[in-house]
Amino acid sequence: MVINRWNSAIQNALKKTRGLNDVVVTWSRPSDAAHGDIATPVALQIAKQVGAKPVEIAQELLTSLQGQPGVEKVEIAGPGYINVWLSPEGHLERLQSSIVASEAIAERKEAPVIVEYSQPNIAKPLGVHHLIGTVVGQATANLYQHAGYKVIRWNYIGDWGTQFGKLAVAYEKWGGKKSVKDHTIDELLALYVRFHDEVEKDASLEEQGREAFRALESGDKTLRTFWADVVAVTKASLADVYSRLHVRFDLDLGESFYEDKMAPVLAEGKKKAVFTEGEGGALIVQFPEDKNMPPYLVLKGDGATLYSTRDLAQMRYRIDTYNPQEILIFTDIAQKLHFEQLVETCVMLGWELPRFQNVLFGRMRFADSSMSTRKGNILSLEQVLQEGVARAAKVIADRGEAIQTDDADALAEMMGVGALVYGILSQNRKQEIVFDWEKMLSFEGNSAPYLQYTHARACSVLRKAEMETVALPKKAEALSAHERDVVNTLVGFADALQQARKEHMPHILANYLYALCQSYNAFYNADPILTAQGTTRDLRLALTSLTAKVLRCGAELLTLRMPDRM
Ligand code: ARG
Repeated sequence: MVINRWNSAIQNALKKTRGLNDVVVTWSRPSDAAHGDIATPVALQIAKQVGAKPVEIAQELLTSLQGQPGVEKVEIAGPGYINVWLSPEGHLERLQSSIVASEAIAERKEAPVIVEYSQPNIAKPLGVHHLIGTVVGQATANLYQHAGYKVIRWNYIGDWGTQFGKLAVAYEKWGGKKSVKDHTIDELLALYVRFHDEVEKDASLEEQGREAFRALESGDKTLRTFWADVVAVTKASLADVYSRLHVRFDLDLGESFYEDKMAPVLAEGKKKAVFTEGEGGALIVQFPEDKNMPPYLVLKGDGATLYSTRDLAQMRYRIDTYNPQEILIFTDIAQKLHFEQLVETCVMLGWELPRFQNVLFGRMRFADSSMSTRKGNILSLEQVLQEGVARAAKVIADRGEAIQTDDADALAEMMGVGALVYGILSQNRKQEIVFDWEKMLSFEGNSAPYLQYTHARACSVLRKAEMETVALPKKAEALSAHERDVVNTLVGFADALQQARKEHMPHILANYLYALCQSYNAFYNADPILTAQGTTRDLRLALTSLTAKVLRCGAELLTLRMPDRM
């Protein structure tokens, strides 16, 4: 590639004149187009080492770059930056990288990466707050897969624990004659909520719930059947929502799966004296003082296992079964301490862990206060999806002739669901995530409809040119400022993908796609495409085709769907 050849030229020059070997040369795009297409601070970076003025070194390197294929002009700027303008041929060659980046790399034969996300608790519908972990996790898993990793997408469902005991008690008391299987997920939730209301009046219910869970754990047949039915009802309702979100899993082995895998871990911990007796016969882990962590409860005094017990068994199982190179677990910030304790416990047990990260995300805040104060404990994700699609349908209807579609319902689904998902994914997961209908469904600004509209616009240009995809031309004239901007943005795709994946920050990709749309729309408004002539028209159509391709690829990695017409 062009840049690699320049790097060799720079390295050779530095070797000859300064006696330096294998200097790493980095390039980035100047924020101001007046500073060229690409710039390197290499002269500044090595100045100290060679004891020369950066400008002096830059001057030598400038000479070595001039006349290189792909270089149109080189300038030294500021204290010693080297700014380069590419020739039309240089641009065309460099654009190849964005074509390459938009194709998924074939899966490499190496250890898998386990990505765990969503993880709802059974017997409750998915709440809108689940949207963050679900889509950030899915997008990250997609990015890994696109980069050639073998990915195991894991939904570690919360299908075990005291809440089942409580639900069983509630069902027996207020469930009526209807079988569990005939309950909807919302009815199950209502029972659970009722339990919590009634506990206020009758505290003995709490003990009954605990007792029922103990009986379930010791294998009570009726309770087992009850449990299996509740799990089935919940999973069916989850499947609907996941499919609308384009979220999928390879495994949904939840907490219950580890029922028989906890005893060996408990035995190991006791034998290694990592688990010690705490109050009332409980088992705990005490961490070294410098770790500054409270003790970790791994078995209750009455012998009941806990969330922590199952997570220990889960770690052991994943390592033994999959030998993964990396495990990522997406959770909200509230679980930070739990995972720090979990990892430290594994270390104390002498387990060899793969790379591990508890990828944290912030809480959700509603711009519209009526949403956070709605009745009921959970704002169900299904309802929110429904509302998103209804709002999108209204936007489509209001725009009238300005929107062209053969299937308004399908478009509303794409737009409504996309708006919600993109509204989340375009924000930095580490911060508070703001839920704002207006912003999510706006046609201006960083929103799904804006991306979708831009994609449809590019497709429409190609349709009018009667072309589907356009290959890069072999030759080009000098580029206009807008063409240059689109090219320089397109070539940033590979970096955006890589950075978003490495940092588990899909919003980096979202922001990139937004910037690409802005560049493309500015170009579309300034430079005629279909009425242009010769190689200019070829290049403009090729940029249109490549923009559509990159947008579709990037958006799909973020689980969005892009319409061809809108
Ligand atoms: N089900 C849990 C919850 O809703 C999250 C599970 C996180 N994953 C884990 N391996 N503990 O709080």
